[in-house]
Amino acid sequence: MQRVVLITGASSGIGRATALAFARQNYHVVGVARRAERLQQLADDIATLPAPHGDFLPITGDVTSADDMQNAVQQTLARFGRLDVLVANAGLGQRGALVETAWQDIEMVMRTNIDGVLHSIRATVPAIRQSGGGHILIISSVAASLVSPYAAMYAASKAFVSSLAQSLRIELASDKIFVTDFLVGRTDTEFNEKRLGEGKRTGGGLPTMSAETVAAALVKTAFTHKRSVTLRLFDKLIVLGNKLIPGIMGELAKRQYR
Ligand SMILES: NC(=O)c1ccc[n+]([C@@H]2O[C@H](COP(=O)([O-])OP(=O)(O)OC[C@H]3O[C@@H](n4cnc5c(N)ncnc54)[C@H](OP(=O)(O)O)[C@@H]3O)[C@@H](O)[C@H]2O)c1
Repeated sequence: MQRVVLITGASSGIGRATALAFARQNYHVVGVARRAERLQQLADDIATLPAPHGDFLPITGDVTSADDMQNAVQQTLARFGRLDVLVANAGLGQRGALVETAWQDIEMVMRTNIDGVLHSIRATVPAIRQSGGGHILIISSVAASLVSPYAAMYAASKAFVSSLAQSLRIELASDKIFVTDFLVGRTDTEFNEKRLGEGKRTGGGLPTMSAETVAAALVKTAFTHKRSVTLRLFDKLIVLGNKLIPGIMGELAKRQYR
């Protein structure tokens, strides 16, 4: 029996690297994103991996649409007959003073980072249940616990999904579905250049990891009981610092993000 993983935001960055990593482990992979041509490139790359590898099903869809996510699950079941793992990864950054930010940008962050994760979970859980259990890996961020002036919306959207992960973990335990909150730190992807709002600055000098590092950790975490994963010491210190000295951390973030 080959396991099946559905990854949202598979057309670039962490999602794309994660699709390749799961396919190398012989999982069948379903990749959902809006850019069809990027998914086709990924399909070509997976097809040329050394055997054995899983198959790839590209699905053009938008996570902000409940119908698109339901359709993605239907297509998954029609092609592979089961679903074992969800990587709720699609997401978008945003910076700028909350009051001056265009509502359109705020709405886009909420629709993508919050509604998108909710639609992904609500569409996939019945199928994962049918398969006898599995794993939901939620891509949050170290920003979830960040005191982050000028990045408040993004941080709050990630706090939402991290909070969701903690409660869902218990809610879905009787279905044998593990839930892990993945607190990702700065990663080299298209994320910075696509970020909405002010400043495309990357916060120069901060350590950056590769999407492949995050992808490898996601594959390793699947079907473990890990409640939360933070990959690097640097990121663990950020999370701890925001709990212990939020005022000082907030002032540092203010200088960096303004
Ligand atoms: N990079 C970092 O430093 C960092 C740090 C912490 C957390 N994260 C989180 O990691 C996740 C992945 O980001 P990334 O760094 O890999 O950035 P990325 O390269 O920009 O990838 C984002 C992915 O999300 C997809 N996406 C965006 N909106 C979508 C929508 N409405 N429907 C379907 N797919 C959508 C994009 O595909 P399409 O445009 O083709 O739809 C793309 O595949 C995000 O949740 C982000 O918040 C990133």
